[in-house]
Amino acid sequence: METRTKIALITGGSRGLGRNSAIKIAQKGLDVILTYRTNKEEADRVVEEIQSLGQKAIAYQLDTKEVKSFDAFVKTVGDHLEENTGSRNIDYLINNAGTALYCPIPEVSEEQLDDMVDIHFKGVFFLTQKFLPFMNEGGGIINVS
Ligand SMILES: NC(=O)c1ccc[n+]([C@@H]2O[C@H](COP(=O)([O-])OP(=O)(O)OC[C@H]3O[C@@H](n4cnc5c(N)ncnc54)[C@H](OP(=O)(O)O)[C@@H]3O)[C@@H](O)[C@H]2O)c1
Repeated sequence: METRTKIALITGGSRGLGRNSAIKIAQKGLDVILTYRTNKEEADRVVEEIQSLGQKAIAYQLDTKEVKSFDAFVKTVGDHLEENTGSRNIDYLINNAGTALYCPIPEVSEEQLDDMVDIHFKGVFFLTQKFLPFMNEGGGIINVS
């Protein structure tokens, strides 16, 4: 019986912990969709590394602060998957994209705090909401806080 290759989508997979996770996931035999915010070349290098492991991979630009862009992103991912697998579904969503704010509490501005909340809470919530209808049974969602 032929078994289907599972698919993981990881945000911020172009470097750091996201890149490491993407490579490890591919080593376990999953195909990977990763996102980057600014650095396409870095993301393309991760895609090449995953492909050299024998897995499929593709990178898309996504800013997780831009909730209004999520519908178009989910459609782009779904169209790609439908064309290549016959299904719009993924198995795992790994909400990893994020930044760090190194700043003493008395000096944090409202804009900086809004940024952190938008990226680490609002974006994670709504991206998850958008992908829930496209999650295969038995899949999983991981949030990197
Ligand atoms: N490293 C740590 O010690 C540590 C500790 C606790 C939690 N974390 C969390 O773990 C996650 C990964 O951390 P890391 O250290 O691996 O980070 P990193 O090396 O700075 O990489 C961050 C990744 O997220 C992407 N990204 C950043 N802001 C984004 C946004 N607004 N929308 C979409 N993508 C965005 C970056 O893309 P571009 O490069 O294209 O901008 C990059 O791919 C983050 O959520 C971080 O808060 C890390």
